[in-house]
Amino acid sequence: MANFVIVGTQWGDEGKGKIVDLLAEFADCVVRFQGGNNAGHTMVVNGEEFISHLVPSGILQEKTCIIGNGVVVDPGVLVQELDYLNNKGIDVGPGKLKISEKAHVIMPYHKKIDHAREEMKGDKKIGTTGRGIGPCYEDKATRRGIRFIDLIDPEAFREKLNAIIDEKNFYLSEFHSSKKLIIENIIDEYTRYAQRLAPYVTNISIVIDQAIRENKQVLFEGAQGTHLDIDHGTYPYVTSSNTVSGNACCGSGVGPKAITGVTGIVKAYTTRVGQGPFPTELLDETGENIQKKGAEFGATTGRRRRCGWLDMVILKNAALLNSLTGLAITKMDVLDGLETVKICTAYEYKGELLRDFPASLKVLAACTPVYETHPGWTEDISSVRSIENLPQNAKKYLRRIEELCDVPIDIVSVGPQRDETIVVRNPFA
Ligand code: GDP
Ligand code: IMO
Ligand code: MG
Repeated sequence: MANFVIVGTQWGDEGKGKIVDLLAEFADCVVRFQGGNNAGHTMVVNGEEFISHLVPSGILQEKTCIIGNGVVVDPGVLVQELDYLNNKGIDVGPGKLKISEKAHVIMPYHKKIDHAREEMKGDKKIGTTGRGIGPCYEDKATRRGIRFIDLIDPEAFREKLNAIIDEKNFYLSEFHSSKKLIIENIIDEYTRYAQRLAPYVTNISIVIDQAIRENKQVLFEGAQGTHLDIDHGTYPYVTSSNTVSGNACCGSGVGPKAITGVTGIVKAYTTRVGQGPFPTELLDETGENIQKKGAEFGATTGRRRRCGWLDMVILKNAALLNSLTGLAITKMDVLDGLETVKICTAYEYKGELLRDFPASLKVLAACTPVYETHPGWTEDISSVRSIENLPQNAKKYLRRIEELCDVPIDIVSVGPQRDETIVVRNPFA
């Protein structure tokens, strides 16, 4: 019996969707436990691409998919995703998908506030996805949020909305010079969503507990990445939830005893979308080439991702914060053809070597990466299916990552398709 958490180790977009889709074959249910439709998780099966924002990435393997209480859900986006999957002939009925009654609902004012704040910040903006994620978590923390259990109860919904709408409209119109929202329009729109989604809403902790008691295998699917975590990331250039593995428990209502392992997804280089520090960022031709070859555009906003070398300072931090038991290295094929590849092993700060990730953005800004340079490989590795058949230098690169991180590599991904993968050790086996 194994219950695994999958987390991003960098700044998101590591390829979590691909690995969750791959491993979901061995799981009985897949649970999203935080974030919302700021996430964009890509799965490519038989040449067809599907980007999931809310529905867990186990859906193409037709596993029970669960949206946990820690997720903030835009019901309009969820309905669109369900329609899309239905049209593809994938069963997304209430037997297959469950939504926590305690998950918070993203409201129109959350999205408006997200946009208005970013605009006001100018060059100090976070570069959010504009999906209302931060404002929704903010209302959850200040105890003014609307949960799914309220959404599907027309009386409770009206009452909760009535209690907050004047304040939201005052803030939007007076502080941001934005148009006011009309409560009846919101009620009309959200009543439609409520009717459609009500059959899916349930106590998901009981569903997961039952699955674990029956020795079924559960996969917890993280969104974003460790360095976007609200506590442990490059604050304030972070998202508004805990992205680390510990939150798999809080965000789905299961105890830590249930978790048997944590796989960290590591892109073979580093990317970041949005603002914030990025010590190994390449602002030269090499960075541009990686961006092009890796097709590094955000799966949610289409923004160009910033690219740089692999950073072991952040990976070691991720190993520690998540209790990683295994790594999945993705996008190795993107490094094909480079004369040399670099790994950052420490930062230099005022003549000193830093091996631990600093909390101060001021310190981080003054750090320069210390690199090891390794010879690259010329071969196209996308058709390789075993570690032994990888070029010698690719193997050395992987071994060095394992050594520096002190966590074994379980999976190496060499292309976006489900089968373009080398499985060294199946965490579920
Ligand atoms: P996620 O948010 O962590 O699920 O990652 P995204 O889906 O946002 O971004 C990862 C991108 O890389 C997607 O376009 C994937 O299809 C693609 N991808 C995943 N693994 C590989 C790989 O091994 N090689 C290549 N070339 N692309 C990959
Ligand atoms: P997946 O799950 C990459 C980034 C945004 C911004 C910051 C805050 O696909 O890896 P938010 O809208 O969450 O308030 O934005 O976080 N961000 C992501 N970057 N991948 C993601 O998700 C992200 N989700 C949020 O770009 O910098
Ligand atoms: Mg993504």
